[in-house]
Amino acid sequence: MTVAQAQPNIALIKYWGKRDHARNLPATGSLSLTLDTLWTRMDVRFSDSGGADRLSVNGAEDTPMLARVSACLDRLCGPGRPPATIASTANFPVRAGLASSASAFAALVTAASAAAGQSRDRQALARMAGAASGSAARSLYPGIVELTVDDEQISARTIIAVDEWPLRIVVAITADAAKPVSSGEAMSRSAATSPFYGAWVERQDHDLEAARSAVRRRDFERLAAVSEHNCLKMHSVMWTSRPAIVYWNAATVACMETVHELQRAGVPVFFTIDAGPQVKAVCLPDAEARVAEALSSTPGVQRVMRSGLGEGARVLGSGDP
Ligand code: PMV
Repeated sequence: MTVAQAQPNIALIKYWGKRDHARNLPATGSLSLTLDTLWTRMDVRFSDSGGADRLSVNGAEDTPMLARVSACLDRLCGPGRPPATIASTANFPVRAGLASSASAFAALVTAASAAAGQSRDRQALARMAGAASGSAARSLYPGIVELTVDDEQISARTIIAVDEWPLRIVVAITADAAKPVSSGEAMSRSAATSPFYGAWVERQDHDLEAARSAVRRRDFERLAAVSEHNCLKMHSVMWTSRPAIVYWNAATVACMETVHELQRAGVPVFFTIDAGPQVKAVCLPDAEARVAEALSSTPGVQRVMRSGLGEGARVLGSGDP
């Protein structure tokens, strides 16, 4: 058995749309924060005794994810590999717009590669994780991470290490339910039907450059401006897809208003939202308590989770069960 852990990552400059569906290559680059307190742990055991792959998620047999997990293991180890028993545990809601597939596939490739005795480097594992879930490639890396892409492959790297800019993230949970439309299906629909999709792809390099430069200068205000703009642009593409893709609920909008009220009061904070109704507020350390308090008391918020920047995926242990 081999157990690996990875944390979800939150994109500030988002990935929304693919250039190559077969290879799951994103249309554009992206930039994200790897979290620390939220995690997925994957226990992978290859068996010599035949049979089929088995997957459990938080103790329950999970068939919807099994096909994607098996395909990921086939790519990693070859289709002739032995069957695997995989147990996934997460300490946060899964499939609810909290990047659980990012941490899951980053942890899966890390555990499975070690269990199979492979010596793939981090970049190779990031490519394997990215083939399963585009955002998962970023969770191989710590801190603030940039993913670039060309027609052949993706590359990910840390641009700011964990201790170089102590950003804090307060996640407001507004609903625990799984998302109604998967991000893969929603991206395809956006590319096929939103009149804004082309403009979204075209301006992505511009936003990435603005975010990269803000990060390098530790310019929180500029990072806040480009991140909120990029998030709202991605959701505009979703909203103008046919049928429209709306992941927000009333509490999502209330949280955005809370963040803007804090900004008007001079608090260094901004929001971002992914394929789900949760709101992630990014702030400087001194603002964290106030941001958590304000979001906790926003109508419709069930609870908040707090995090800093965290490490990339890693093996926690291996040996006989
Ligand atoms: O990696 P996927 O297929 O779950 O897509 C992730 C999409 C967003 O979370 C909305 C944006 C991002 O860059 O993480």
